[in-house]
Amino acid sequence: MNHFQHTPVLVDAVIKNALPENARYFADCTFGLGGHSKAILEHYPQLVTLIAIDRDRQILDHSCSVFDDARIQRIQARASELPMAMQQLHIDGVDGILLDLGVSSYQLEAPERGFSFSRPGPLDMRMDTENRTTAEDIVNDRERDELIKIFREYGEEKFSPRIADAIIRSRQNERITRTDQLANIIAGAVPAACRRNSSIHPATRVFQAIRIAVNHELEELEDFLAVALGCLRPGGHLSIISFHSLEDRLVKSFMQERARGCVCPPRFPVCVCGKKPEIEILTRKAVFAEESEISQNPRSRSARMRSCRKCSAKEAPRS
Ligand SMILES: C[S@@+](CC[C@H](N)C(=O)[O-])C[C@H]1O[C@@H](n2cnc3c(N)ncnc32)[C@H](O)[C@@H]1O
Repeated sequence: MNHFQHTPVLVDAVIKNALPENARYFADCTFGLGGHSKAILEHYPQLVTLIAIDRDRQILDHSCSVFDDARIQRIQARASELPMAMQQLHIDGVDGILLDLGVSSYQLEAPERGFSFSRPGPLDMRMDTENRTTAEDIVNDRERDELIKIFREYGEEKFSPRIADAIIRSRQNERITRTDQLANIIAGAVPAACRRNSSIHPATRVFQAIRIAVNHELEELEDFLAVALGCLRPGGHLSIISFHSLEDRLVKSFMQERARGCVCPPRFPVCVCGKKPEIEILTRKAVFAEESEISQNPRSRSARMRSCRKCSAKEAPRS
């Protein structure tokens, strides 16, 4: 068991946007060690229940020793299973939902979880250890084209073909089972000049890409977005912090689409589509960390947060 802590990002923006002043029920769907939830519970003393969801049983269990509060209801689940969690707790609507995507420093620092290229350990990377597919399965069993696609799409890695080829050569000799073994293969595949000139380890992007594939993180975000508004009470807020441009693109286009009213062509004299905005966007642009936060917590550099508020059925659409 590691004792590493996790510093939550964009805490002020979360407190300001994640829930309305009179909120009673809140769902933190990526609870981790509860850093954001702690700040929310302190700032909104009238909250009755905070649903604490995480896919990772280990972090959820460990979080009890880091921070607890009688209002917290912990449930191991995926964020997209929030409706099931609410049903279990007999809650028919929440006033705020938070998603803080990715992994916690606590998980990254645990060598046995296999998330980090700098911690020698088994190639695992599953957030939910009940799931079958591990990073080892992906690295050893996927075809060249599939590896390239994963590294390119999820990692934006420009040396994807070279790295995939190096992995395939290496796995013909022996199975790749360890994080340090994979990190060395990747480092050897990247041209030396690029290795020297880069501010990040050559394995950073590929490790991120494999983690996203192992945990189906983008599919899971899509599934969550499909149910999120249905879980909110009218006036409730939804906030999502992402660390990856593909995730942010999904969140941004979801919010833009749901905030749009009438979609009739401009030449129509009256609206015939009847489409009303379902939400009001609260953050016109994504919120980023200030330099002061980045200097304390470098992980916050790539964090961006978007928030919206669910309209009530009667609410007049705003332009
Ligand atoms: C960045 S950490 C959250 C940290 C948390 N906000 C805090 O302050 O401690 C992300 C956490 O969400 C979990 N997680 C990521 N995606 C998830 C999902 N789709 N459903 C449930 N949990 C998820 C991870 O296991 C991890 O514990």
